[in-house]
Amino acid sequence: MLHQHLIDLSDYPVTWWKKIIELGEKIKENPEEYAHKCDGKIMATLFYEPSTRTQMSFQTAMIRLGGQIIGFDNPANSSVSKGETIKDTTKIVSSYADILVIRHPLAGTAKASALTADCSVINAGDGGHLHPTQTLTDLLTLKIEKKTLSGLTIGMCGDLINGRTVHSLCKALSMFDNNKFIFISTPQLRMPQYIKDIIKANGSTLEEVDTLEEAIGKLDVLYMTRIQQERFSSEAEYLAQKNTYVLDHRKMLLARKDMIVLHPLPRVDEITVDVDDDSRAMYFTQAKYGVFARMALILTMLSEDKSTQLLRGKVYDGIKCDNPRCITNQEHYLPKSFRSGGDETLLECEFCDERKLI
Ligand code: NCD
Repeated sequence: MLHQHLIDLSDYPVTWWKKIIELGEKIKENPEEYAHKCDGKIMATLFYEPSTRTQMSFQTAMIRLGGQIIGFDNPANSSVSKGETIKDTTKIVSSYADILVIRHPLAGTAKASALTADCSVINAGDGGHLHPTQTLTDLLTLKIEKKTLSGLTIGMCGDLINGRTVHSLCKALSMFDNNKFIFISTPQLRMPQYIKDIIKANGSTLEEVDTLEEAIGKLDVLYMTRIQQERFSSEAEYLAQKNTYVLDHRKMLLARKDMIVLHPLPRVDEITVDVDDDSRAMYFTQAKYGVFARMALILTMLSEDKSTQLLRGKVYDGIKCDNPRCITNQEHYLPKSFRSGGDETLLECEFCDERKLI
């Protein structure tokens, strides 16, 4: 049997995301109306990486829909610690649940899981790659707070190379008209080239700057991110980047009166607590809206009779992905499947998007 999965929002037309956002707005206005829509359904949350908001907002969303939850948030307490593969864990858990939500430190894991799942799979963050349900949360927040998803100047600041939230959000916002991106980062933490190529191909413009001060006054939205300590190869590299960007009340004086500040959270020290009381600080509200976005997503996925095509490329025997943090380099039974990157010499891994010249 084929199932519908959410691995990457780009697997769906924008009309599908818009429908989920509209449903999220309706749920926010009248949550009681949806209280029994998932009676008798079970959601499994498999979190191989730490999480507060994503995991708990998924669980809250399912409970608020009348469903129930199973899962783990510490793989050390499951058979993963005995060496069980993603394939086997997925096979079993997907036979217990109606929908499976997975977070993992390696890129491409949600897709790997969906390949063997007997229920729908949702990507709740795969390494530094993608985080589509945070993007649904961010889009819902923008729709409610800015009343539009188009014509916005969006500044993204911090760890743009490792931040999966900004990768998914850029891909999504560049599908709407006249959005402009200003990327604020050190040269070491710049947005990956493949994301910049997608933005340009979708007709949006982008600019890269080194300081918050030179961008903040131009922005409708400032999206702050944490420096992702766990994705650096050494402590020294992390320490060299830590504390580079700190948003405080003084910098907020340079921003427009109607600019909003978003952050997927957790914050470490990139936003000082004196910004929290500014009416433009929207990050706690954003986390709250995450429940409505996820309720809308769960309802949609459990009510639609569709299947997701997971692999569209070609399997190249003997060629492996060069990204050491790609799931295909841990789970060796996975097909080495690549898309053509435009010409015959460039391939893109279908699990993690890493490019490879052959
Ligand atoms: C983010 C994540 O896990 O990617 N948080 C979240 O899901 N709300 C951002 C982060 O960890 O910095």
